[in-house]
Amino acid sequence: MGRTSTLLILFLSSLVRAQEACDRSCQAAFKTAQSSEAATWVSKNVSEENFYSTPANVTGAAPGDVLKWENLSRQTVNVNFTAPAGTSISRYLYMTEDIDRKPIPASGFVLLPYSKPDPSKPLKTLVWAHGTAGRIRNCAPSNHKNLYYEWSGPYALVQAGYAVIAPDYAGQGSDIPQGFMYEAGFLHAADVAYGLIAARKVIGDLLSDEWVVVGHSEGGMTAWRTNERLAMPNQDALLKAGKFLGAVANAPALRPLDLIPESIRRAAGGPIGDAVSVFFMQSLEGLFPNQFRVKDYVTDTVMGRLPLMDQGCLTTGRALFSNLTAAQLWKNTTWLQLPAIVDWQKRYNGAGPHALAAPMLVVQGMTDPLVYANNTELDFNATCKSFPDSKATLKLYPDTDHDVSTTNSQADYLQWIEERFEGIEIPAGCSREVSEPLTTLFKNVGTFYAATTG
Ligand SMILES: *[C@@H]1O[C@H](CO)[C@@H](O)[C@H](O)[C@H]1NC(C)=O
Ligand SMILES: *[C@@H]1O[C@H](CO)[C@@H](O)[C@H](O)[C@H]1NC(C)=O
Ligand SMILES: *[C@@H]1O[C@H](CO)[C@@H](O)[C@H](O)[C@H]1NC(C)=O
Ligand SMILES: *[C@@H]1O[C@H](CO)[C@@H](O)[C@H](O)[C@H]1NC(C)=O
Ligand SMILES: *[C@@H]1O[C@H](CO)[C@@H](O)[C@H](O)[C@H]1NC(C)=O
Ligand SMILES: *[C@@H]1O[C@H](CO)[C@@H](O)[C@H](O)[C@H]1NC(C)=O
Ligand SMILES: *[C@@H]1O[C@H](CO)[C@@H](O)[C@H](O)[C@H]1NC(C)=O
Ligand SMILES: *[C@@H]1O[C@H](CO)[C@@H](O)[C@H](O)[C@H]1NC(C)=O
Repeated sequence: MGRTSTLLILFLSSLVRAQEACDRSCQAAFKTAQSSEAATWVSKNVSEENFYSTPANVTGAAPGDVLKWENLSRQTVNVNFTAPAGTSISRYLYMTEDIDRKPIPASGFVLLPYSKPDPSKPLKTLVWAHGTAGRIRNCAPSNHKNLYYEWSGPYALVQAGYAVIAPDYAGQGSDIPQGFMYEAGFLHAADVAYGLIAARKVIGDLLSDEWVVVGHSEGGMTAWRTNERLAMPNQDALLKAGKFLGAVANAPALRPLDLIPESIRRAAGGPIGDAVSVFFMQSLEGLFPNQFRVKDYVTDTVMGRLPLMDQGCLTTGRALFSNLTAAQLWKNTTWLQLPAIVDWQKRYNGAGPHALAAPMLVVQGMTDPLVYANNTELDFNATCKSFPDSKATLKLYPDTDHDVSTTNSQADYLQWIEERFEGIEIPAGCSREVSEPLTTLFKNVGTFYAATTG
C-alpha cells in the first residue's frame, strides 16, 4: 500500500474514532467553542505565519538574544487587536533555554503606554505571565486579538502606565521539538527573565532596571517560580534581567500532581470540570515519549477527542472534557506516581519549597474551583516554615473564584507593585490577610470585555 493511502486510512480512522468518541451534543459544543476561539486568532495558523518561524540566525544565538522584533503598525494594532487606545504593541521572537540550559526560541509581546508617567524616567517594567491558554502554537497570547487576558491582565497593567513584557512561554507560538511544556514553571521562569533581557536589547532605553513579575494561574505559578529561581545558584544569566523587586502570584497553579488528585476528590465521581489534566498529559508525552504514553492511561473517549482538542485552545478543551468524570477520562491514574513524572514536578515545574529572591504577594480566591485555596496556602506555609525570613504575604479573597481573582484584586496588587518601585521595605516574615468586601452584592463572575468567553 502506498504511503499516501496509508496516511489517508490513518486519517479516516482517526475521524471515525473522533465521531464515536464525541456524539452530536459533544460535536455541537466543540464547534461552538472552536469557532469562538478561532475568531480570536490573529493568524489562523501560526505554523504558516512567518513571524513565528525560527529564523536562520538561531544558530549560535544565546538565551536572551533577539531573533525577530516587530513594532506592529498602527493599522495592525487598530484592526487586529483590542488593546486600549493609546497602547503600542510589539511582538518578538527571542531565545530562552530548556531544562539542559540549551537555547530554544520563544515568542512574546510588549505593550507600551501612550506616554511616560514621569517623562524624566524610564517606564516602570512589569513582566506579565499568562495562565493556561491551550496547547497548540495558535494559542499563544501574542496571537490572540485580546492578548488572551485583556483587562484581567496586560491591559490593566499598561493602562496603569507600566511597560508590559509578556512571554508566550517556549513552544506556545514558537516551534520547538518537545512542544509546549505546560506548567513547567522552572522553565517559564527562564522565559520571563530572558524575555525581559531580550526586550532590553531593543527598547532598553524605555525600561526601568527594576522589574516585577505578575501572573495568574499557570502564570501565578510562573511568578512564584521566578521569585524562587532567581534566588538559586547559577542563575547569573537570568539575573541580567535587572533589579528584581518581587512577584505577584495570583491563583498560582503550583503543583499539578497535587491539584489533579484534589480535583478528582472534589468531583466525587461527578464531572471533573476542566481540561487542564489532558493538556498536561499531552505535554508530558512530548517530554518523555519513552516513559509515558497518553494512550496507556486515558479512555478511548479521550483518545478520540484529542484530535478535536488540538484544533482549539482552553475553551475547546473544556467543551470536550470538562463534563467527563474521572472514570470517563482515565483508565487509571497511576501515571501521577510514575518516577519520570514525579521527577518532572521537581525539575521542570520547580516544586519547592525554595527560598525567595524578593518579596512576594500571593493572591488567592477562597472559592477558586480550579486552584484550591488550601493547596496554595499549604505551599505558602511550607515556604514560610522553611524560609522564615521570606517577605511573603498571602491575601485571601472571600467569594472569589479563579477568574474573579484576576480582577477584584487589581487595586490591591497594583498598589503592592507601586510600593516595590517606591522602595518601601517589607519586613522579613510571612503574613496572611483576608480581604474584606465592602458589600455582599459584588459581581462574582469573571467578566471579559472583548468578545471572549471565560
Ligand atoms: C456538558 O453538559 C452541559 C450541561 O449538562 C451540556 O449542556 C453540554 O452539552 C455538555 N457538553 C458535552 C460536550 O457533552
Ligand atoms: C497549519 O499549517 C501547517 C503547516 O503548513 C499544517 O501542517 C497544518 O495542517 C495547518 N493546520 C491547520 C489547522 O490548518
Ligand atoms: C537575527 O536577525 C534579526 C533581523 O533579521 C536581528 O534583529 C537579530 O538581532 C538577529 N539575532 C541574532 C541573535 O543574531
Ligand atoms: C491583520 O488582519 C488582516 C485582516 O484580517 C490580515 O490580513 C493581516 O494579515 C493581519 N495582520 C497580522 C499581523 O496578522
Ligand atoms: C520599535 O519601537 C521602539 C519604541 O518606539 C523603538 O525604540 C525601536 O527602535 C523600534 N524598533 C524597531 C525594530 O523598529
Ligand atoms: C494502570 O495503567 C498502566 C498503563 O496502562 C498499567 O501498566 C497499570 O498496570 C495500570 N494499573 C492499575 C492499577 O490498573
Ligand atoms: C489541605 O490540604 C492538605 C494536603 O493536601 C490536607 O491534608 C488538608 O486536609 C487540606 N485541608 C482542607 C481544609 O481541605
Ligand atoms: C497555614 O498556616 C496558617 C497560620 O499558621 C494556618 O492558620 C493555616 O491553617 C495553614 N494552612 C494550611 C493549608 O496548612
